[in-house]
Amino acid sequence: MAVDLRDPLRSVLGSILDEVRDRTDGEVASYIPELAKADPRALGIALASTHGVVHEAGDSAVEFTIQSVSKPFVFALALDALGLEEVTRHVGLEPSGEPFNAISLDEASGRPLNPMINAGAIVTSSLIPGDTADEKFARIRAGLQAFAGRELDVDEAVFASEAATGDRNRALAYLTRSAGTLASTAEIATTAYFRQCSLTVTARDLAIMAATLATGGVNPVTGERVVGEDAARWTTAVMTSCGMYDASGDWLVRVGLPAKSGVGGGIVALQPGQFGIGTFSPPLDARGNSVRGVAMLEALSSQSGLHLL
Ligand code: DON
Repeated sequence: MAVDLRDPLRSVLGSILDEVRDRTDGEVASYIPELAKADPRALGIALASTHGVVHEAGDSAVEFTIQSVSKPFVFALALDALGLEEVTRHVGLEPSGEPFNAISLDEASGRPLNPMINAGAIVTSSLIPGDTADEKFARIRAGLQAFAGRELDVDEAVFASEAATGDRNRALAYLTRSAGTLASTAEIATTAYFRQCSLTVTARDLAIMAATLATGGVNPVTGERVVGEDAARWTTAVMTSCGMYDASGDWLVRVGLPAKSGVGGGIVALQPGQFGIGTFSPPLDARGNSVRGVAMLEALSSQSGLHLL
């Protein structure tokens, strides 16, 4: 690829895409039936600096559902609204080393181990202020829009598909409700959570959202303060230890950046004080992490010395 002299970083991102483009391993998620319609060849990446400059390559403007990549941002909103002490009465901060949909709670406290697994994310959504699913979701959507710096739509087909097949998540909600850690009814929490997961974003949006955590809570493109510095820092810490589920330890060694993946094919990663990255490629590995997204971030980390550690 020729170097783009106006934006050399775009050339770096383009060559990262070229490196992973021909990989065909991984499977597009199908346990939410609507997600199986995703184009497995779609491939995009974007990097947003904490000064608000965005570099992009490939399918960085293609929309897909945010899914679990929403979890850290909703966690940051909950921290900002309620504080660390109240939030951690409901959900822990420890890596679980388990798959994203594991049926597990800390026995002594009845809390999900962390807010990145589904159980913890459903509890986090229940904590967002609001008496109904609509009120909670309106807060969540407004918050995620502020992180992205633009309006985000719900993919109603994906929402309906997840609502129709989401009994495992409902089971997790009832389990946490019976343990006393869910802050609403199970129905309200899962409806807000399913809608949150069905919001559509692009790799560019994810880069700006991650960069907003990297600045300590101010969207570097719009200049809006979205969450306080503490909420941004605590969220980044949890992404570091828990963001890639049972691959989190391996991720920290290979890539070394706080990150979060989603079954729509998105991954966000960031370096505090420096930049946020968003990647998009739908085929997933067995842990639910985008195969080519992981490969792009590994390449970027090793070639560009972006590793945190
Ligand atoms: O709750 C679910 O199963 C999906 N809405 C989100 C799961 C997800 O994205 C896991 N991430 N890799």
